[in-house]
Parts: sequence; C-alpha cells; structure tokens
Amino acid sequence: MRLLLTGGAGYLGAQVLVELLQAGHDVTVLDNLSTGHVEAVRRAQALAGRPCSFVLADIGDTPRVVDALDGVDAVLHFAASKLSGESMERPERYFRNNVAGMCGLLAAMEATSVRRIVYSSSAAVYGAQPVMPVREDVALRPESPYGVSKLQGEQLLEWMVRCRKWSAVSLRYFNPVGAHPSGALGEPVEHAASLVPRALGALTRPDARFTLFGTDYPTPDGTCQRDFIHVTDLARAHLLALRALDAPGHAIFNVGTGRPYSVREVLTACARVTGREVPMTAGARRPGDVPCVVADPRRFQARMGFTAALGLDEMVASAWRWWLTNPRGYADAPAPDAPTSDATPDAAPAAAG
Ligand SMILES: NC(=O)c1ccc[n+]([C@@H]2O[C@H](COP(=O)([O-])OP(=O)(O)OC[C@H]3O[C@@H](n4cnc5c(N)ncnc54)[C@H](O)[C@@H]3O)[C@@H](O)[C@H]2O)c1
Repeated sequence: MRLLLTGGAGYLGAQVLVELLQAGHDVTVLDNLSTGHVEAVRRAQALAGRPCSFVLADIGDTPRVVDALDGVDAVLHFAASKLSGESMERPERYFRNNVAGMCGLLAAMEATSVRRIVYSSSAAVYGAQPVMPVREDVALRPESPYGVSKLQGEQLLEWMVRCRKWSAVSLRYFNPVGAHPSGALGEPVEHAASLVPRALGALTRPDARFTLFGTDYPTPDGTCQRDFIHVTDLARAHLLALRALDAPGHAIFNVGTGRPYSVREVLTACARVTGREVPMTAGARRPGDVPCVVADPRRFQARMGFTAALGLDEMVASAWRWWLTNPRGYADAPAPDAPTSDATPDAAPAAAG
C-alpha cells in the first residue's frame, strides 16, 4: 500500500516505519520535527533496507498535506503532543495540536478522497476506572487535556465514518516501552518522562535518583501497576490494523498485554538486566496517578489475532541497549541536511547495537 505516516520521526512512528517498510509498503513520512528527529527516519530506512519519502510539514497545513496525499491509500496518524503533565499546564497547545491540527489532516484527506486511517489513541482516554482490566466499551473519563484531546480525535473519526463512510481504526496504546532490538531507535532522552527511561537515566547519570511516587497504593507491593507493551509488539500491531481498514466502520482496540507490572517489578527487572540497583528515593503519590491500569486485550486478539510476544525483561534490555549506545539520544548523530519537502533522507548506517 502507499501510506502517509504522520509523526514518523517520533519515538513510536519511527519504530512503525521500520515495520511498514519491511512489509513492502511505500511510505511518506510527514512531520514538523517539533519533537521528532530526521535521524530516526534515516535509521529506520537503514534498518529496513528500503527508502521512504519525507515531507517537512505540519498536519494542520491542509494544502501541504493535500500534496503529500497524492496517490496515498491510507494514513497512519501519530503526530501529536503526548505529555499528560504538560497538557495540564498548557491545555490550549494540546487542543490546538491534537484536535485542530487533526482537523487540518482530515480536511486534506477528505479533499483527496483518502478515507482510511489508523489513529494513535491512548489509554489516557479511560481515566480512573472502577474495573480492571479495562474493556474498550466502558464509559470514558479522561482526566487531562491530553486524554480529552485523544478522545476527541476518536470522536472526529467516528463522525467521519458515520457521515462520510470512512474506515478508521483507533488503537489505544497502554504503556509503550523499549527500543528497536538493534538499539538504533529509541525514546529520545529529552522527552523521556516515563518509568523505564527515568529508571535507566538514574543509572547512567551520576547526579540522578529515581523517585518512587507512592508506596502505599492498594496493590500487592504498594506501588502503581501499569500495562507495559514492547514498542516492537506495538509496531507490529499496526500491520494488523491496516488489514482492519478493509472493513467499513470505526474499530477501536486496546493495545496492551493484559499483564500488569508494578513499579517495583520494573525496577527489579532493570536491576536484573543491567546488573545494577537503581538509586531510588521513596516519594509521595503524584496527583492523578491511579493504582492500576491494565488493558483487556481480548478484542484485538479475537478480531485481528494480535498477541504481544515480548516480556518485561526484553523491554528493559532493548531500552538499555539504546541508552548505552545513544546516551544523548539522537544528539550525537551527524548533523542532518535540512530536510525539504518530498526529500528522501539518506539512509544512514544504524548505530552499533
Ligand atoms: N509514547 C507513549 O507513551 C504513547 C502512549 C499512548 C499514545 N501515544 C500516542 O502515540 C503517538 C506518537 O507518540 P510518540 O511517543 O511517538 O511521540 P513523539 O513526540 O516522539 O512523536 C510525535 C511526532 O509527531 C511530530 N509532530 C507533532 N506535532 C506535529 C504536527 N502538528 N505536525 C506534524 N508533525 C507533528 C513530532 O515532531 C514527532 O516526530 C501520539 O499520537 C501519542 O499521543 C503515545
């Protein structure tokens, strides 16, 4: 298929880019590089052994997106702002980028009759839920502007499906963790706010300590439990989601493992994989953190045959490989040529892994 991948220079988009190219799809990445890196696109091409096209543009720039959609069969929409905490400080930025920006993308798709889309949604749409594991059809209660913006993205698609006969798949990711097995693609350090990067950062930076937010939750070891999924499994899920676009309508799937791990279990895995204890300080609960969030993964499994294959140690080991080989993220990569519209970034050799 010919695909447009928005946000393909980001943490998750670049992992998916490798899978799409390896599966033989022709891909154009469209990204404004606000948090992404052209080096990630280069490395993804090198890993896949196939090139893609790159368009430096904003999703809200409808005329530019219209040009990029020429000949495209379907869109995978990753481009967004993703930090819940930041969204509590700057809600307007999140609605502008994730909702208004997405409207620009959808307008371009409608103008070019590209009516098939896979959307990166989030478990943040659920908010605090009384029953775990959480199923897709529960009442949604997002608790941050980020979560609301992701839900509004799903709702936009729901109406495009109903009113304009689109096919849409919304994937609600739980907690993506890890890096490409080569160690060449991972979460850039400057955006690494999640658990595993914070733990590994505390191992690699002499002045850093990991703060354990809350040890008195009603969970087996007192720390929060989350559903972590390896980015390689998550990337693979998108190949199945593309197949789901063959059916009309809006399919919504949880993308998780259904297996919760506590913060302490993750820290133990970090020690097991790295051979070093994470320096740690017990802190107070963070406002808004709920004790346990875990997916009911059965719908995606039953309808599309998706099962996550990789476990916690593989998630941590791949993230550790990325941190060791790219201690400053993509900052040490050779300076890229300024990307231009429709340029194909040169395939650069992958970092040693
Ligand atoms: N990483 C997670 O933990 C997580 C969890 C659930 C859902 N998601 C969703 O997955 C998607 C990708 O997340 P990620 O972790 O790769 O984030 P990221 O910040 O690493 O990647 C986002 C990419 O989109 C680009 N971008 C942002 N706004 C844009 C715009 N207006 N126009 C063009 N490009 C733009 C950025 O430059 C970046 O390359 C997001 O939609 C996010 O909401 C992520």
